[in-house]
Amino acid sequence: MHAGSGLVVASNRGPVAWERQDGELVARRGFGGLVTALGGALQHEPGTWVSLALGEEDREVAAEHDGEPFEVDAGEASYRLRLLDVGDRFDPYYNRVSNRLLWFTVHTLWGAPYEPSGVGWRPDWHYGYEPVNERVAQVVAEEADSGSEIFLQDYHLCTTGRSVRAALPGAKILHYLHTPWVGPDSLQSLPDPVVEGVLRGLLAADVVGFSSPAWCHAFRRCSAEILGAGVDGESVLLDGRRTVVADFVLGVDESQLAESVGSDAVLRAGEELDDELAGRRLLLRSDRTDLSKNILRGLHAYELLLEHRPEHRGRVMHYALLNPSRQDVPEYRAYLDACREAAARIQERFGEESLRFEIASDYPRTLAALQRYDVLLVNPVLDGTNLVAKEGAVLNTRDGVLVLSRRAGAAEVLAEAALLVNPYDAEEQADALDQALTMDPGGRATRATALHAGACRGAPEEWFAAQRHLLRATVARRR
Ligand code: G6P
Repeated sequence: MHAGSGLVVASNRGPVAWERQDGELVARRGFGGLVTALGGALQHEPGTWVSLALGEEDREVAAEHDGEPFEVDAGEASYRLRLLDVGDRFDPYYNRVSNRLLWFTVHTLWGAPYEPSGVGWRPDWHYGYEPVNERVAQVVAEEADSGSEIFLQDYHLCTTGRSVRAALPGAKILHYLHTPWVGPDSLQSLPDPVVEGVLRGLLAADVVGFSSPAWCHAFRRCSAEILGAGVDGESVLLDGRRTVVADFVLGVDESQLAESVGSDAVLRAGEELDDELAGRRLLLRSDRTDLSKNILRGLHAYELLLEHRPEHRGRVMHYALLNPSRQDVPEYRAYLDACREAAARIQERFGEESLRFEIASDYPRTLAALQRYDVLLVNPVLDGTNLVAKEGAVLNTRDGVLVLSRRAGAAEVLAEAALLVNPYDAEEQADALDQALTMDPGGRATRATALHAGACRGAPEEWFAAQRHLLRATVARRR
């Protein structure tokens, strides 16, 4: 991205993260699906990416630039950035409102008799979330000119669009949510002012994008039933404004993935894994340690499989490769502890070597495992898309079978080729694992071909171009 014209992207996690090596601050590609989705698509676009300073090193870099724009080269990509350090507002904004209240709500993670309780939300919302969104909006408005196209990302920035709109009434704004969305009953488990702030904030955009028609439908229902907005086909009409709510399939970039598996680190990781497997089948899961990923029920399903189908004992290894995530949120820490306990129980019952339970951010090892699985378990309670399911479908060389939650956005394009499961039913998942492990080679091959084709639909550049096209058409209609 380069200065000169008006493409502006804003997200919580930016495309670059800094780390210290031998005393020097080194820029690295940021972690996560968002950079994968937008990084490539925007590489040749002039513009600016606004994001938050997340770690200590990011904050040092933000202090050096004092909120002003700067260029950075992060290996294969370069960006013009505005990196914002929001000080002590970060914790309530990120850990308490974004990753707890909003994330839990749109992934249906609450245990209704206890949570959410409404205790303490006011300072978190008014001191944390709203001002941080306001700050992002200010910077976006500074970077935008009359021709700018503004792409806001995800649930961290729900109220940003409304402030941008107030500053620049003619702005062209698209807000993309990489998460699912839920119906009015579930959304209204949040305090009313939060619900209203979120919906009105998002509806300040010209286009609201999701990864699945189901999330669009839920969002329109919330707008109509909670705000009394009108619905006209795909659009929501509120206060004389039209917002188009549309879904865009996000798939994977096959050539980029093919390039990334060619490295020495991936080859070495693959050899190590082959040695460990020693001819056994590989049942893989690769996820962030997030409650929505349903790791605990997945472990339970594996335990049931070994319990009820003894013929698999000693012939399969379950590799749960888990990326540490959001450990400042108490529920995430408790969940990880519960997963560790379940893993220890399985190892005690069926042998240490039956399960490799690993908490690590190791991209080469993840890629090597995705190339080799016989079965990939992706069983989220609810998931916006789930790119792991799609990356696996493209990288796997063994006609691996995908056991997929019917509540993952990826099911939109992979349903027919995968074995679909109810994420709440561990017994059904155990049966599906058995079916996957015993499937005949012909069935595996047919499904693998279809998985591959489905996963490549909506590659990042295509995904982004479709959004931009709709944004332009919507703005043209408004005049
Ligand atoms: C989801 C969200 C992203 C987020 C990612 C990782 O995919 O949609 O916006 O970046 O999770 O979560 P984290 O809190 O580590 O950024």
